[in-house]
Amino acid sequence: EEWKDRGAAVSIQRHVDSNGNQTHRIVKKGVQDFSFGRTLGEGSYSTVLAATDRQTLTEYAIKVLDKRHIIKEKKVKYVNIEKNTLNRLGDHPGIVRLYYTFQDERSLYFVLDLATGGELLGFVKKLGSFDEECTRFYGAQILDAIEYMHSKGVIHRDLKPENVLLDEHMHVKITDFGTAKLLDLPSQASNADGNTQLDRREQDFANNIGIPNHERANSFVGTAEYVSPELLTDKSACKGSDLWAFGCIIFQLLAGRPPFKAGNEYQTFQKIVNLEYQFPPGFPKVARDLVERLLVLDPTKRLNIENIKSHPFFEGVLWGKRLWKQKAPRLK
Ligand code: ADE
Repeated sequence: EEWKDRGAAVSIQRHVDSNGNQTHRIVKKGVQDFSFGRTLGEGSYSTVLAATDRQTLTEYAIKVLDKRHIIKEKKVKYVNIEKNTLNRLGDHPGIVRLYYTFQDERSLYFVLDLATGGELLGFVKKLGSFDEECTRFYGAQILDAIEYMHSKGVIHRDLKPENVLLDEHMHVKITDFGTAKLLDLPSQASNADGNTQLDRREQDFANNIGIPNHERANSFVGTAEYVSPELLTDKSACKGSDLWAFGCIIFQLLAGRPPFKAGNEYQTFQKIVNLEYQFPPGFPKVARDLVERLLVLDPTKRLNIENIKSHPFFEGVLWGKRLWKQKAPRLK
């Protein structure tokens, strides 16, 4: 029997002894419950593998993290952030869902939605750029996912086309919450989304691997090309920082390259803080207006999500649930 308790799925094993007495044992999923397949991606301290649940034959993507490497590189904090964030985000079609976590002596395992289409970046590279219709559709799905994240008090802080995956319907699934920022939520008392309970039930990874959690090394900077100016100038990220990255993504889908790109990171940062970018010839006028209202140095002066949704570039988009029932436009 399969029980899904808000992501912490377990199987219930029924035992009948020689006297006919029944007992039940709650068994947590583990490595042995999956058969592992091809490699989907490799990070600096993790590998994502395709895997199948042996009982249900459901396919997943399993992120395998090497404990020794995480400890050595002082990344424990980020692994915990990723897990806590995914648990908080739970249930949105545009965000990769975390189903189970477990570990063995060597590794930590995150069992995630499998996004069979791979990275949005791959399609941008293959096609050169997207037309307005495709940019509108993918832009709308990304924005809807950002709106949900922000409503749950999560700032992603590293949005970019590599972190936007596509599922079997060519719909968006945002991934990689290892550098997210979790904001305190106004009301956690009611525990409406079940997270507090899940966190209590599942031990903190840091405790599990037996190391203290107070290292503060390596202050975070996301990927150079999408980093917001406020992160570079006052080392602070806000919800608006994700909307800066969103502006960079819209630019990139239409132009085929990110707006701020230079020979090295330092020069890229210089371009960002000086707002030094140019639209290529033929860049659609409405889209240009949107991007110009997002790539604004002062984060408080950027369009907010409501303003973006009602911008003429997104005219005709069906927001909310309907956006995820729609057929994706064919990429061309
Ligand atoms: N690469 C990294 N994460 C992935 C996922 N969840 N699905 C498919 N490919 C991935």
